Amino acid sequence: MGTTGPCVALSERYAIEGADGIDVYEQHGGYVGLRKALEMQPSEIIDVVKEAGVRGRGGAGFPTGMKWSFVAQDTGKPVYIVCNADEGEPGTFKDRELMERDPHQLVEGMVVGGLALNSVQGYIYLRGEFAHAGRQLTRAIREAYAKGYLGADILGSGKRFDLTVHRGAGAYICGEETALLDSLEGRRGQPRLRPPFPATHGLYGCPTTVNNVESISSVPFILRHGVDWYRQWGTEKSPGPKLMCISGELQRPGNYEFALGTPVSEMIDACGGMLEGRALKFFCPGGSSTPLLPASKADVAYTYEDIMEAGSMLGTGALMIYSDQTCVVDTVLRFTEFYEHESCGKCTPCREGGYWLSQVLRRIETGNGRMEDLDLLQDICDNILGRSFCALGDGMTSSITSGLEYFRDEFEAHIREARCPLGTTEPRRDIAVLDTHGGGGYAPETGAAEIPAMPGRSTAATTGATDKTVAGQA
Ligand SMILES: Cc1cc2nc3c(=O)[nH]c(=O)nc-3n(C[C@H](O)[C@H](O)[C@H](O)COP(=O)(O)O)c2cc1C
Ligand code: SF4
Repeated sequence: MGTTGPCVALSERYAIEGADGIDVYEQHGGYVGLRKALEMQPSEIIDVVKEAGVRGRGGAGFPTGMKWSFVAQDTGKPVYIVCNADEGEPGTFKDRELMERDPHQLVEGMVVGGLALNSVQGYIYLRGEFAHAGRQLTRAIREAYAKGYLGADILGSGKRFDLTVHRGAGAYICGEETALLDSLEGRRGQPRLRPPFPATHGLYGCPTTVNNVESISSVPFILRHGVDWYRQWGTEKSPGPKLMCISGELQRPGNYEFALGTPVSEMIDACGGMLEGRALKFFCPGGSSTPLLPASKADVAYTYEDIMEAGSMLGTGALMIYSDQTCVVDTVLRFTEFYEHESCGKCTPCREGGYWLSQVLRRIETGNGRMEDLDLLQDICDNILGRSFCALGDGMTSSITSGLEYFRDEFEAHIREARCPLGTTEPRRDIAVLDTHGGGGYAPETGAAEIPAMPGRSTAATTGATDKTVAGQA
């Protein structure tokens, strides 16, 4: 077991003035890893990444070195390395900061990855809204070409690697690696049937790896400092540092870097603790698609294995903190509305199920629910989980089933009292709910005006919603 607690690794240059430019980057260890990689065989680079035990930071935690070793080298087709910079998971904002503040570490990681995989072309698939990150990356790539780190003859080695930034158009599903590849090819981004896997049939039908920004950015550090340096943090199965996006009802939410294995409660303390007068109620350990956990589990060590044993997933490292002043039903509804909206529509369980989950949750939240709705929610989730074409469908059920598991009382109280028992819910007049009392049709929400509004939260009046929008949505 390595050390735990706060650490500085991937974020080491964040505080250095001008480190987003190539000169300062070079003065602080930049492109040292690449120089080492140029002296190594491709298989040696992969072995180092395997020994370090880097696990994918995009959500699934698959070992990066192993993924690289699966990429077919004997097809006679070009090999592609693609960086997933879509960062769409709610609560996640680490990749954007990394690309904005220290874009060269990603550029360097992509070149090293290219050398490891015998690839001469890489793509960074960047979320379209990340305008500043796009500018920073474009500038960094231009600087790297000018200094010979990219191009036809990297530092006179005779090895080639070209790098292109491709901007997406802002769809969460385009972060799913096969949908990303379709989008990159110019098609509508929808997941592909697997097998075949991208390792043999990826971009343009050629062998491809897709890796997260943080996964790729850690490789130059490992080459520069060594495997032991990386493994000084974390556990055997979850080694290394982790960029953590810690959000919610905290004194100082933000991006932090911690050694894997640090307890969640310690991370909360490092953020200055909960907001004044609030106590931890529940948390999402790895983004909104990971099951939420109650406060009683806050001492869990933040590793892939411990979080899984606690009943959730490490996901992207987006730790979302909620207090006793937050309504769990409202939170789960908001997550579900996101997934309903982002469902690509390719498969029925997710496309239809997401719509129904939102409707049922909304009527519970707005005081129109029935006790049998709780079993109905569970039943819909059971029909989505494991039956969807991609993990978006599974992810949309996580907060609902875990919410019901740990906070069923609160769901029931909404139904019994026909209102949010915490009184934190605004009257949501801008939405329509299922008419539960009139035979399954739709009707604009009524009676919600009795629910006290939460200061600072928008209402129909402030959002400008009108009867017309209600009717339109109904
Ligand atoms: C709906 C959906 C959205 C995803 N969005 C992202 C994303 O924005 N960024 C990311 O790196 N991985 C995302 N993933 C995971 C990718 O499919 C893929 O596993 C990951 O990019 C692999 O990189 P890694 O091995 O470095 O983690 C998403 C997966 C799903 C199912
Ligand atoms: S699970 Fe949802 S997002 Fe994934 S393919 Fe099916 S409809 Fe599309």
